Amino acid sequence: MPTTRRHFLRETTAAGLLASSLAAQQSKSANDRVQVATIGLGGMGTGDTHSSTNVPGVELVAVADIYQGRLDHAKEVFGKSLFTTRDYRELLARKDIDAVIVATPDHWHSQISIDAMNAGKDVYCEKPMVQHVDDGKKVIEAQQKTGRVLQVGSQRVSSIVYQKAKELYRNGAIGELNMVEAWWDRNSALGAWQYSIPLDATPENIDWDRFLGRAPKVPFDPVRLFRWRNYRDYGTGVAGDLFVHLFSGMHFVTGAVGPDSVYATGGLRFWKDGRDVPDVLLGLYDYAAAQSHPAFNLALRVNFVDGAGEDSGFRFVGSEGIMTIDNGVTVAKRPRDPEPGYTIETFTDAMQKKFLEDYKKRYPPAVMNADSIRPQGEEKYLPPAGYSDHLDHHRNFIEAVRSRKPVTEDPVFGFRAAGPALLSNISYFERRMCKWDPRTMTQLD
Ligand SMILES: NC(=O)c1ccc[n+]([C@@H]2O[C@H](COP(=O)([O-])OP(=O)(O)OC[C@H]3O[C@@H](n4cnc5c(N)ncnc54)[C@H](O)[C@@H]3O)[C@@H](O)[C@H]2O)c1
Repeated sequence: MPTTRRHFLRETTAAGLLASSLAAQQSKSANDRVQVATIGLGGMGTGDTHSSTNVPGVELVAVADIYQGRLDHAKEVFGKSLFTTRDYRELLARKDIDAVIVATPDHWHSQISIDAMNAGKDVYCEKPMVQHVDDGKKVIEAQQKTGRVLQVGSQRVSSIVYQKAKELYRNGAIGELNMVEAWWDRNSALGAWQYSIPLDATPENIDWDRFLGRAPKVPFDPVRLFRWRNYRDYGTGVAGDLFVHLFSGMHFVTGAVGPDSVYATGGLRFWKDGRDVPDVLLGLYDYAAAQSHPAFNLALRVNFVDGAGEDSGFRFVGSEGIMTIDNGVTVAKRPRDPEPGYTIETFTDAMQKKFLEDYKKRYPPAVMNADSIRPQGEEKYLPPAGYSDHLDHHRNFIEAVRSRKPVTEDPVFGFRAAGPALLSNISYFERRMCKWDPRTMTQLD
């Protein structure tokens, strides 16, 4: 039965109250040990596990992965006593695990997160929170019903760089926002997701059916597992993989909750290796005025065929300046001239004379004094050397596991970033504009 908005809100509020009273009884003190397990120990699962265990008091006790090589490597890296399994449900059944990191391919995120919360575990779920728009509210409802902590893994929202950008934006550093642009261009096989395939990728070493999960049944093919991002059955294309980071970062800085229209176009231009997702994608999004921002437009771009190198950027364009985020935040300002100027050369001499007399009356020659000197140029803020937003994001999660206080990126925030990213795919594949209600997180058409 489809969930109506009112039903959804009523149920989730009641569930939220129950959950918060349950959760209040379970809080741990700041130094209590937290035992974590990782589900999906590939590239990001490994990075997440290192960041998590770098938070004082956190210990990795178990790992689940459907490829034996990664389970064996888990013991090499994290110790022989680690419990390992190909079936993540065995982890969820263990009483010694407080929290799980979900770093599988995207098509498993919602199912494993919901199973984990229902099993009483807190969850750090990699982005995008869900593979399909339809999955979003199920994760939100499960979180609110169970009262478990769920942090979505777009680490930018915990970054001190983005916090600085938020503060500058709020304090009016760029005036009235009118546009945000962000891009992510790459020029390499690895950048375009052609990851290495181990030589022991055999049916004996891989639980193929468990990798497929809800995806269509297809014969064993290690390319589809190790390069899962290239297939819509398991991944979410460049929009779910990369746009989602840009949505979460931008929403955090501006306080926006999402666009109301989404249009994307692009194509598969170069990496024709059997993938069924584009390697060039452009997205355009309209944000209506809200309390924290005026109406503005967002333009996103990913190009995996950038013949001149790799580059990414984020520009917040306002009436009084431009704020750029890269390894730090830069605010650039070049104030407009206070008078409009004129283009009178083609008028008759008499008209030019009259026009100038009138112009000078309206804009008398400015007195040149210290007040007429206006600031020009850039101010740059850089984080301290070695700063890691990823570590901060895990620290925030572990603090919430202990204190039961809210995380920086709960499932509502996570779905508001994933929703428009996933609609970009629908727009691209169906060649149409999509409508989204960012408040109720509902696809309108
Ligand atoms: N936050 C970030 O900056 C960031 C960066 C990279 C990846 N990610 C996200 O992390 C997730 C993993 O990406 P990755 O690059 O590490 O992929 P990966 O292929 O390197 O790792 C995925 C792992 O999951 C395992 N797996 C697949 N199905 C499983 C299942 N049912 N149960 C248990 N394990 C299973 C695979 O065998 C593999 O080891 C993705 O959702 C991706 O979007 C986030």
